[in-house]
Amino acid sequence: MSDLITPMIGFIGGSGVYDLAGLEDRKWVKVRTPWGDPSDEILTGVLSGVHVAFLPRHGRGHPTPPSALNYRANIDAMKRIGCTELISLSAVGSLKEELPPGHFVIVDQFIDRTFAREKSFFGTGCVAHVSVANPVCPRLGDALEAAAKTTGIPYSRGGTYLVMEGPQFSTKAESMLYRQWGCDVIGMTNMPEAKLAREAELCYATMAMVTDYDCWHPEHEHVTVEHVVKELFSNADKARALVKTVVPALGAPRGPCPAGCDRALDWALITAPEK
Ligand code: ADE
Repeated sequence: MSDLITPMIGFIGGSGVYDLAGLEDRKWVKVRTPWGDPSDEILTGVLSGVHVAFLPRHGRGHPTPPSALNYRANIDAMKRIGCTELISLSAVGSLKEELPPGHFVIVDQFIDRTFAREKSFFGTGCVAHVSVANPVCPRLGDALEAAAKTTGIPYSRGGTYLVMEGPQFSTKAESMLYRQWGCDVIGMTNMPEAKLAREAELCYATMAMVTDYDCWHPEHEHVTVEHVVKELFSNADKARALVKTVVPALGAPRGPCPAGCDRALDWALITAPEK
């Protein structure tokens, strides 16, 4: 008997990414979870012979803002439908001169400044403390990097994503502070998403797609939705090329994740098991 896992690649599409093109056997599937409803139905299908699933993070038509997303339902629904890997495609602002709009960042760290969201599947009765010291799966990061290289997308490997609550953009003082902290990009959604993916023992990585220079840059207008949307469309085209390339690279049957993402709870449960 083989211990190999046949991967199902899950994508969570942020602003501007509401569908996945080129799928065979396309089906939008309603998934129920004990945490409530996810943002939308999940699109399932086959791409280059590999099973994929796609969830538009804000729902089709973008009706749900970051603070009102049911992150637990979204991650649980992706797990229930069979995803083994989760790739987040997320619009972000840039906090560094050298990361201009149109640049993609394979982030490897997050600073979580959100405060109005449910952040864990665990609680009273079953207590767990998973490690998120390294919140991104390096295997998925490698695959995203190779795909960005192949498709000619300008990208950086590594970077810290500051997750703010929103929905307003930052003040200039906040933006300057995050730059002093050494953050690279800023967005409103990847936490608690990444933490919950780890609790759900799913490999997770983010391709952060820069749309603007936030409000710190002396030579660029401060960010507005108009700026973001203008850049989103060309970023979404690049994201589509990236997906087409990364899926076959991740589709082969594999053993356990070398980084242990898929066994995170082995070292995390502290409540004594029931006798
Ligand atoms: N998403 C895209 N640009 C952003 C910014 N400047 N701040 C927060 N979220 C963003």
